[in-house]
Amino acid sequence: MQEKVQWVREDPKNRLVFWPTEEMKKKAWVSDESIYTKAAEDPVAFWAQRAKEGLEWFEPWKEAYIWKPPFYKWFVDGKINAAYNSLDRHIKTWRKNKAAIIWEPEPVNQQKRVLTYFDLYRKVCKFANVLKGLGVERGDRVGIYLPMIPEVQIAMLACARIGAPHSVVFSAFSGESLRNRMKDAEANVLVTADGYYRRGKGIDLKTNADIGAENTSIEHVVVVKRTGADVSMSEGRDHWWHKLMAKAPLHCDPEPMDSEDPLFILYTSGTTGKPKGIIHDTGGYSTVAYWTSKWDFDLHDEDIFWCTADIGWITGHTYACYGPLLNGATSLIYEGAPNYPEVDRWWQIVEKYGVTIFYTAPTAIRMILRWGEEWLKKHDLSSIRLLGSVGEPINQDAWMWYFKNVGGGRCPIIDTWWQTETGATLINALPGIGPFIPTVAGRSFPGTKHDIYDETGNPVEIGEGGYLVQKSPFAPGMLRGVYKDPDRYRAQYWSVYGDEAYYTSDGAIWWDESGNIRLTGRVDDVMKVAGHRMSTAEVENALTQHSSVAECAVVAAPHDIKGEVPVAFVVLRQGQTPSKDLEAELIQQVVKVIGPTAKPERIVLTDALPKTRSGKIMRRILKALVKGETVGDVTTLMNPEAVEDLKEKVGQ
Ligand code: WT7
Repeated sequence: MQEKVQWVREDPKNRLVFWPTEEMKKKAWVSDESIYTKAAEDPVAFWAQRAKEGLEWFEPWKEAYIWKPPFYKWFVDGKINAAYNSLDRHIKTWRKNKAAIIWEPEPVNQQKRVLTYFDLYRKVCKFANVLKGLGVERGDRVGIYLPMIPEVQIAMLACARIGAPHSVVFSAFSGESLRNRMKDAEANVLVTADGYYRRGKGIDLKTNADIGAENTSIEHVVVVKRTGADVSMSEGRDHWWHKLMAKAPLHCDPEPMDSEDPLFILYTSGTTGKPKGIIHDTGGYSTVAYWTSKWDFDLHDEDIFWCTADIGWITGHTYACYGPLLNGATSLIYEGAPNYPEVDRWWQIVEKYGVTIFYTAPTAIRMILRWGEEWLKKHDLSSIRLLGSVGEPINQDAWMWYFKNVGGGRCPIIDTWWQTETGATLINALPGIGPFIPTVAGRSFPGTKHDIYDETGNPVEIGEGGYLVQKSPFAPGMLRGVYKDPDRYRAQYWSVYGDEAYYTSDGAIWWDESGNIRLTGRVDDVMKVAGHRMSTAEVENALTQHSSVAECAVVAAPHDIKGEVPVAFVVLRQGQTPSKDLEAELIQQVVKVIGPTAKPERIVLTDALPKTRSGKIMRRILKALVKGETVGDVTTLMNPEAVEDLKEKVGQ
């Protein structure tokens, strides 16, 4: 039985501050505070040491870091393969028969699957040969549109093995979203499934995949049989996974990739209607995936690491696939919903497998909190020794509830700040060092540096807030660009404060003099809806494609559980009559174009949107309206009367 985390009220302002126990410090990979100062003395040497120690390189690099703003390279000319590092080196050791992936299906009457490192290695080699057989060559992009089944990691690692960057698309995204991404990535092969289970129902995925493959460069679609549903297979284009695998040879040499070769592209939302393809490289990304998994979560051989994020998001890429596997650890994945068949499914899983590290999002914690503690009390959660949080700021109530009810007061909460662009965590407390402070993520990971600027680019003082930036040397896992769009890369990240400070689009406050940072949320028009990243412009695009919509504006409204939800203000075309049915149809329009995660919470039909005299929509006013804040001065508007009408409609 572990002793409780000591919690100390030594803070002058009486804020809650938790420190690791002696036992945690003893176990932790890092427990000496000096790691921060040592790494800061020579961050490039620090990372070079990490890359050398954590990974096996086919050939050493010639230069560790080159910075030509706004571009940087790591481990230049080094040769490495991410799949080799995740598999081959482990099967030469006792880890050969260790569980690499544990998979829990949603239907309770179906069998779990456990893939040992050797099982995974064999399947990855075979699937790599399948891809080669379909004509995939080094450098070609492969689309992956799979649910949470082990084939998703098998497909990713097979791509990594042959040097074909994968582009995983979240399975709850619509067929149209998939198509846009496949078009941009110019993929020739798509890996998908017939369907999957969600809340007890078989969900059809193949129909969406067909929409996604239409009018693109996709020539082959590989289909995993998951539900056994009757799906249409297009002759010559579609192939069953199991049939190709049965014939595939077992041996496949890993391609020696250049450290800077892309490992994958992952699309994420920016402020425009078009998602951007974030490029991650091989050597730098593998280095941070390895070390952040190990140090942040204090990952050891005996751990069962459960990151609840879907692989379709960066969290799933790094902490349900590459990070744990590079470490030779055991990664648990679950196919379905947290509340099926009952709301204690997650705790049932924790108990069933003895999960030790549990990493989830604040939105999930707030949802579970609503369901009540009794559901947790029904299960033995004593195996858990470390908790993680990611995706959005965590409020103090949710933090304390998580700490007390899931962690039993024993476990530190590692609140990790990062982004799709950063590839791995950047700001968080380390388990053997602490402190763990509700609502404060922590310090910059050793070897990385952040600052907080005011509007004019001057650093702010302790206790003050501003805009979070990252300084050189940029962490090795940082994005290497936006696919086919270097201008967008420059404009988005390097134009606000110039090309020496990576602009995160997040607000932050220096919490204390030791460099602890509190994150306060996005400062642009990117929403975090139940932890999912979504731009207001994408939702607007989806709505304006509907024939009855003349104009619309979408803003994020605060939500108790989801954090934020989209609210759409819509002006109908002449001749269209407002009705509840039409509102429902517009909501369905967004689901069809983007997917259910982008569903507007509410459609506000109106005759006019508040505009400036030059015709620009005043989003500031709409934001104030949905937040229940005072709207302020409207006299400069072209149509101040529109605001009165909207106030009434939103009930202000
Ligand atoms: C945005 C990035 C990081 C992987 C999952 C999300 C917000 C993320 C935290 C945190 C406060 C957080 C930021 C960031 N965010 N983690 N611990 N505390 N905010 O990746 O979808 O690219 O979203 O999520 O606003 O910019 P993403």
